[in-house]
Order: sequence, then structure tokens, then C-alpha cells
Amino acid sequence: MRLAKYLASAGVASRRASEEVVRAGRVRVDQELVTDPARDVDETDAIFLDGKPVKGPGSRVVYALNKPAGVVSTARDPQGRPTVVSLLAADGLRLYPVGRLDIDTTGLILLTNDGELAYRLTHPKYEVPKTYRAVVERAPVRTRAVDALRRGVELQDGPTAPATVHKLGADRLEITIHEGRKRQVRRMCEFVGHPVKRLERVAIGSLELGDLPEGSNRRLTEQEVERLLAIS
Ligand code: URA
Repeated sequence: MRLAKYLASAGVASRRASEEVVRAGRVRVDQELVTDPARDVDETDAIFLDGKPVKGPGSRVVYALNKPAGVVSTARDPQGRPTVVSLLAADGLRLYPVGRLDIDTTGLILLTNDGELAYRLTHPKYEVPKTYRAVVERAPVRTRAVDALRRGVELQDGPTAPATVHKLGADRLEITIHEGRKRQVRRMCEFVGHPVKRLERVAIGSLELGDLPEGSNRRLTEQEVERLLAIS
């Protein structure tokens, strides 16, 4: 396995940050200083970061959190607002949010100590589907608007890919997208004349939010994690 991938899987940092850590000359493999993030390593190598041993991959944890509104989905917030990480008191674990939800968006977000898993679930090339429920303004939503959302709409940063869209009520839509652009669902709905009033993420790939109460979290089983990764 590539060294950067190994470090990310061991929870050292995200995949990209792990590459930087290696390039910065902070990593030794056995006794050798290695600056090539692509260097091949395995479980039998003794790997040190800043002189401290890195424990191997296999201690992965993944939590699902039902994010309330008003909570930011970054690990830290310079403005001191509550973060998804602060909602989840996982003793001694350094957790990363997997992707982002807007501050006002509620629903399913994952947190993990596995930078590699975070990468696999968020990098656009893996196209992991994410499903949202939106309550929108200017009801009723007409078939024309639903069809436009399905086909793709022209946003400032380019056209959106085809989406799966179900009309759940006069002012309610369920939208599944495979991209993860900033405020994408809000911008898509606004484009078709229906600004979003409330937005909730209800699924990431095969994993559903279900009846997890707002503000609560649960640890995913290894089987759930494997199923998530199987689609990416
Ligand atoms: N799309 C949005 O507009 N907001 C989110 O938080 C997630 C997807």
C-alpha cells in the first residue's frame, strides 16, 4: 500500500495532508527517512511520524451523526460555533467529518478517524450518491421544474449531472445527486424557481439516516462500512 494511503488509513490525516506530511520529511519507514508518498509499505514495516510509531490501519471507527441546524461541519470553527466533532465526544479519537453540510442543513453526516475512507466517500471521482429532502418555497412544484432538476441545470460553476428526483408533496422534493458541489441542492432548487426552506440529508449511498434523533450519533458496524465502500 502507498505510504500516504497507509497513513490516512491509520488516522494520521486526510489523504492529501498525509502526502504533505511525507514530503515534509516527517516520516520514517523502519530507520529510513522517506519523502515519497507513493513508497510501498505494509503491516510489517515500522512507520514513525515525528519519531512516534504510527499504529497500523484496522483501528477505524465511523460514526453517523444527525446534524442539527446551526452546527458547522468542519472540525474546528474560528468563530467558535458548535461543530459536528464537538457533538461527538469520542474519547481520544481524532475524527474528521466526511464531506460538508451547510450550517442550516440537517441530517446524516459521517465522522471517522480514517482519512482514506473520508477520501473515498467524498472525492467526486467515486460519485457516491447522496439523498436530500427539501422543503421549498413557491409551491406547488410543477412537473417542468422536476424534469429540469432530473436532466441537470446550468449553475454558475457548470451544468449539474442528471439527478434522481421524486416529488413527495406540493412543496417537498427528494433529490439524489452524485456530485458534492457547494450548496448544490439549494442552488439547483433556486434555479428552477423554488428556493429551499429546509434541507435534510437522509442517505449517503446505502446508509440511511433512519430514526436517529437530531443531535444523536451511533457507531457504524463494520458491515455497514464495507457496504458503503463497496459502492465507491
Ligand atoms: N446541498 C446543499 O445545498 N447543501 C448541503 O448542505 C448539501 C448539499
